[in-house]
Amino acid sequence: MDYQFILTEVHDRAGLIRLNRPKQLNALNGTLIEELAAAAEAFDADPAVGAVVLTGDERAFAAGADIREMAEASAVEMLLNDRIGKWERFRKVRKPMIAAVSGFCLGGGNELAMACDMIVASETARFGQPEINLGVIPGAGGTQRLTRAVGKALAMEMILNARMLTAEEALRAGLINRVVPAEQYLGEALKLANELAARAPLAIRLAKEAVNNAFETSLTDGLADERRSFYFLFSTDDQKEGMKAFTEKRKAEWRGR
Ligand code: HXC
Repeated sequence: MDYQFILTEVHDRAGLIRLNRPKQLNALNGTLIEELAAAAEAFDADPAVGAVVLTGDERAFAAGADIREMAEASAVEMLLNDRIGKWERFRKVRKPMIAAVSGFCLGGGNELAMACDMIVASETARFGQPEINLGVIPGAGGTQRLTRAVGKALAMEMILNARMLTAEEALRAGLINRVVPAEQYLGEALKLANELAARAPLAIRLAKEAVNNAFETSLTDGLADERRSFYFLFSTDDQKEGMKAFTEKRKAEWRGR
């Protein structure tokens, strides 16, 4: 498939989506978001792919929504276009998604990284929500996901006062999973994605759903949903194979059935 602002590749069983507007620091315009959603959905539907990595380039993962594109928009245009509504398509991706971040990861860029399931960062990565400098606030989950990830104190500072975090600070705050040397961040993310892709697919899918559910529901309902998914997995061939392989002291062969 030919895209204008992204590139896609497959590395073993990991699908890779590269944001490709390097001159604009991968600023997210409407077409790019459309393409991103379409590519993520295509990988989600592709049985050859078990997990997806989303990346930018060395200088920037993404420096936010495209400011030039929205600068003159009216509230009514923003509402009718509802570009951010399209981000919901991302949330529906069932396979694990990993953001591989180098350089600027700001505004909508940080929101995009946080919409993934895990974040692997280069030591050069910088995370922030600088929308306040433009007279607005985050619009694609920044106030919600960042607060859940790093807590109120740091989220307030980042969102109200445009504080940027280094990769090490983001790691300590619980925003990201790993920090690696600059030349390794993409390889590390692809390695992690391939590890996930080699695991039992149905269990991976329900595990992702269950963890995300922890942010949506009461503990009682979350525990009940988790338990139902756990019991359900006993109807799969993979559960029988996984437990049999354990007792036979061999590696399980997953079928996703
Ligand atoms: C459009 C952008 C952009 C953006 C950078 N560029 N960020 N264009 N939208 N968000 C463009 C610049 O205009 C410039 O183009 C080129 O990329 C390189 O950027 P420079 O500013 O020259 O680079 P540098 O001096 O290294 O500064 C990097 C930077 C700065 C600190 C990241 O670019 C910056 O502050 N960018 C904006 C960050 C931001 O405010 N993000 C939040 C956006 S609002 P030219 O043509 O001049 O060379 C948002 C809301 C999300 O994300 C809502 C939900 C989707």
